[in-house]
Amino acid sequence: MQRMHSMHSRTSGELRAADIGQEVTLTGWVWRRRDHGGLIFCDLRDRTGLTQCTFDPEHSGGEAFRTAETMRPEWPILVRGIVKSRGEDMVNPKLATGEIEVLVDHITVFNRAKTPPFPIEDGIDTAEDTRLRYRYLDMRRPEVAAKLRLRDEFAFAVRKALHDRAFTEIETPVLGKSTPEGARDFIVPSRTQPGSFYALPQSPQLLKQLLMIGGVERYYQVAKCYRDEDLRADRQPEFTQVDVEMSFVTEDDVICEMEDVLLEAFTQVGVGFPAPLRRIPYWEAMDTFGSDKPDTRYGMHLIDLSDTFEHSDFKVFAHAAKAEGQVVKALNARGAGAWPRAQIDKLSDVATRLGAKGLAWIAFRPDGSVSSPIAKFFSESEMADLRSRCDVESGDLVMLVAGERLCADEVLGGMRTHMADALGVPRQGHDFLWVVDFPLFKYDAAEQRFASEHHPFTQPRDEDREKIATDPLAVGSCTYDLVMDGFEAGGGGIRIHESDVQLKVLERLGFDEASAREQFGFLLDALDYGAPPMGGCAFGLDRICMLLTDSASIRDVIAFPKTSSGSDLMLRAPSPVSSRQLEDVSIRLD
Ligand code: AMO
Ligand code: AMP
Repeated sequence: MQRMHSMHSRTSGELRAADIGQEVTLTGWVWRRRDHGGLIFCDLRDRTGLTQCTFDPEHSGGEAFRTAETMRPEWPILVRGIVKSRGEDMVNPKLATGEIEVLVDHITVFNRAKTPPFPIEDGIDTAEDTRLRYRYLDMRRPEVAAKLRLRDEFAFAVRKALHDRAFTEIETPVLGKSTPEGARDFIVPSRTQPGSFYALPQSPQLLKQLLMIGGVERYYQVAKCYRDEDLRADRQPEFTQVDVEMSFVTEDDVICEMEDVLLEAFTQVGVGFPAPLRRIPYWEAMDTFGSDKPDTRYGMHLIDLSDTFEHSDFKVFAHAAKAEGQVVKALNARGAGAWPRAQIDKLSDVATRLGAKGLAWIAFRPDGSVSSPIAKFFSESEMADLRSRCDVESGDLVMLVAGERLCADEVLGGMRTHMADALGVPRQGHDFLWVVDFPLFKYDAAEQRFASEHHPFTQPRDEDREKIATDPLAVGSCTYDLVMDGFEAGGGGIRIHESDVQLKVLERLGFDEASAREQFGFLLDALDYGAPPMGGCAFGLDRICMLLTDSASIRDVIAFPKTSSGSDLMLRAPSPVSSRQLEDVSIRLD
């Protein structure tokens, strides 16, 4: 039960017909004020809703009425009065409190307000920058406030589910040492040790592993993480993870226990899912959907046509179809076959941005004709095969990419989402699944070295240990990502708990033993003191809330988010600091 406060006896959202005749005091902000031939109506808004307040010049000597005449939107006020029926023909069925109004006999004005830079109501089209500069006004709008409350609801439910399962919440430091998760670190200079820096955690990964070595066995934390990377609609430089780690567990143990936790938390916010969730191996996800975070709410599967084009006169295709590790793949976008040539041509730019060398296409026009820059090179049987394997109907646009398997998958996977958006393919409800069995390494062509697919502390499959040195891309890992509606909502894996294996992996990532010890010596040492087998995962709280609230951006579910250039427009951060502050930490600017 909420404690009664001295300033108000009730809230603005709760009054109903049953309260008629009661004296109430309410506090909140003036929402709308209407002058109606002698009577003034004012909608009072607090966090729970709206109540219509009526001011009558004849009532209680008219003092409240005279104050109400001067009142403006967004003034914080207190009203005291009697709950009245609105009368049958005045009922507002759209409002929860639509049957009643409060006839005010006393009003206190706490403060005045300037005219807000945008209307305090839902569905406005004000530029986001303006809303973020005045975020404290933006969050007075019910739709913003509701998202922050849903976030609390979900976070609380996850905490409870974990606590009830004997997980212990432990806070790990924010001022720490680099924990690589693939982004740049935010660094903080030390005053007492000139020239030395703390790194803000990209995740609590290494500390939670140390907690397992410390015997905690079941840990969780709702943890802030910091990553200096290019921002997108689903990324922020600081964000919140629900971070979990367990000892003496297998992959299957972690996945099953996390499903229980998630099902409990999602149910709390009205979203269920059929457990156990589907598990799709990484390569199946890549080959079928062209993504390691597939949205499986719609079809548009990628189709491998390598066999079809093995002997084609179209040399680009024939070459790829025969070459080791290369493929010819197709994607059918139903409806786009009716697009004008110029619109189809623009798709090549999209494909190029996704990393394609070229995009071939065949438009099956609604009138039965075929238009394509390359179909003339295809034999009749190749066309027949393509039509049947891509299930072609008139009005279809088949896009084809030839090249290295992963690249072709990724290009067509990107085209799949692009076309689904462009064609308005329906995606209803929520879609949950696990992608499992990621490779341990990927090749970073720009840096010309191997990088971790997850992070450097992930356990290679036992049977693949030897391949770390000989065939790194063929090494499997004990990993799983939770995918929700085509977004990576969480990820984790089993960790390396033996220092010699950890060293081998670090060496493959380009560390020599000395530099590995220099950066991760504390971990390598700790692993040698009886580290147990362990595994866990982390869920992106902001991302999950974004999807739960059907928001276009992760910023919508963060109280004070940063823009795509990493600025807080309200605080005006980042900002220069005084030369004195720089001197304190022994930094001179160039
Ligand atoms: P990972 O890097 O996959 O794993 O992060 C886990 C989840 O955090 C969310 N996330 C983000 N959300 C918003 N903005 C970002 N910049 C951002 N980056 C990540 C995603 C992601 O799935 N230590 C490992 C977990 C583990 O192995 O236990 C880790 O951090 O939803
Ligand atoms: P080109 O021979 O490079 O002029 O290409 C002829 C057509 O084939 C163009 O429509 C290209 O977009 C397409 N194309 C070229 N390379 C590829 C490829 N690797 N995959 C798919 N289409 C390609």
